[in-house]
Amino acid sequence: MAKIHQTFVCQSCGAVYNRWRGRCEACNGWNTIVEEIAGGPAQAGPAATRPARARGRVFPLEGLTGEAKQAPRTPSGIAELDRVTGGGFVRGSVILLGGDPGIGKSTLLMQASAAMAATGERVAYISGEEAVGQVRLRAERLGLAKHPVELAAETNVEDIVETLSQGKPPALAIIDSIQTMWTETVESAPGTVTQVRSSAQALIRFAKTTGTAVILVGHVTKDGQIAGPRVVEHMVDAVASFEGDQGHHFRILRAVKNRFGPTDEIGVFEMTDAGLAEVPNPSALFLAARDHQAAGTAVFAGMEGTRPLLVEIQALVAPSALGMPRRAVVGWDPNRLSMVLAVLEAHGGIRLSGHDVYLNVAGGLRITEPAADLAVAAALVSSLSGAALPPETVYFGEIGLSGAIRPVAQGAARLKEAQKLGFARALMPQGRETADRALATESLRHIADLVAGIAANG
Ligand code: TYD
Ligand code: MG
Repeated sequence: MAKIHQTFVCQSCGAVYNRWRGRCEACNGWNTIVEEIAGGPAQAGPAATRPARARGRVFPLEGLTGEAKQAPRTPSGIAELDRVTGGGFVRGSVILLGGDPGIGKSTLLMQASAAMAATGERVAYISGEEAVGQVRLRAERLGLAKHPVELAAETNVEDIVETLSQGKPPALAIIDSIQTMWTETVESAPGTVTQVRSSAQALIRFAKTTGTAVILVGHVTKDGQIAGPRVVEHMVDAVASFEGDQGHHFRILRAVKNRFGPTDEIGVFEMTDAGLAEVPNPSALFLAARDHQAAGTAVFAGMEGTRPLLVEIQALVAPSALGMPRRAVVGWDPNRLSMVLAVLEAHGGIRLSGHDVYLNVAGGLRITEPAADLAVAAALVSSLSGAALPPETVYFGEIGLSGAIRPVAQGAARLKEAQKLGFARALMPQGRETADRALATESLRHIADLVAGIAANG
């Protein structure tokens, strides 16, 4: 018999304690620790559901053939989604899809379900949040009601596994969301860490034994953590997050972890009246509303995974009335901004210590590349001088603490994208990359070259 024991589990990070306390030592959250009664591991995974023949057997690595070797994938029919998963859903894999409520997770997965069902695969969409009628209404709105997706409104994991196990196992099963699921093996309420973990365990076991690809939807808390599901992150094969700004129309699907593919790819979508539309050329979208004449804007030739992405960096520099001037950043690393400001001051002769500085990546995109340093510096200098930068120019390059402009990866791909979008000039680190005659490249060695260039042109 499994031993029933009491545990106290932090509901925000999943840390386990043997007595109650007011504050979680792992995540510093107050009042997040709740008593939960959990069954032992034997209870969580009944031996009867395990295939007897696989018990304790070993297989030679080289003997794996065909199916197991190639990690057979089923494309979803949505190219931007397949790009993030690495070419489609791997059989028997489990993906956690996190995102803010209302960002469009259910919409995306309904579209993916319908696209896959249209190819003749069995697809099940289990909603624990909406009634079947509501899910169908959404599908109708999206023009997908005719597709043979199996819908169910269910929250009990045992029932779900039972239903899905009837007949040929589905190629894809959506669980929307993992926070609403509960299993009979533990007594805690749905949404608690123990329930989320145990439900996920049962669904992962189902995926591994039947070969069904399972997508678990997880809601994210205010501070960006996938609450509860955070404890699921290490159990699943891939974690993707669906991001975007409620105020903007486009959404970005980003792989955070992927056992079967790259983690630096993004998928770009636009939320329209008819659901999510794929954006095959995101640079054009992000530059669409650009104001060529404005001072303080520079176009950064960035990369997201293997895909080049041009985005506008906006800076506003204004004299400060405060003793400690403000630095506010949206979409970039504030520490890198401080560094670029310090280098501009120390090696570029640009005094910004008496100015408030605001930096924004247009369109609500979040960039992490140090290669954006040069574009950020250009935008800052332009805003301070009040003169717009030449409109047909892109910037990329990392700035070192000495003021040196350092080379970055994938220069050729960046130049190619800039050329495709009609840019005439690229300011970049010294390197071997060359572009067609249509695009003039200028190598910069030092931050002072950038400052001098802007002073001469502007
Ligand atoms: P939803 O997929 O329900 O979000 P989540 O599952 O992540 O909570 O998306 C809800 C939002 O999407 C809602 O604010 C309305 C918007 N939306 C559209 O703009 N167009 C559409 O066609 C659909 C279905 C939703
Ligand atoms: Mg939803």
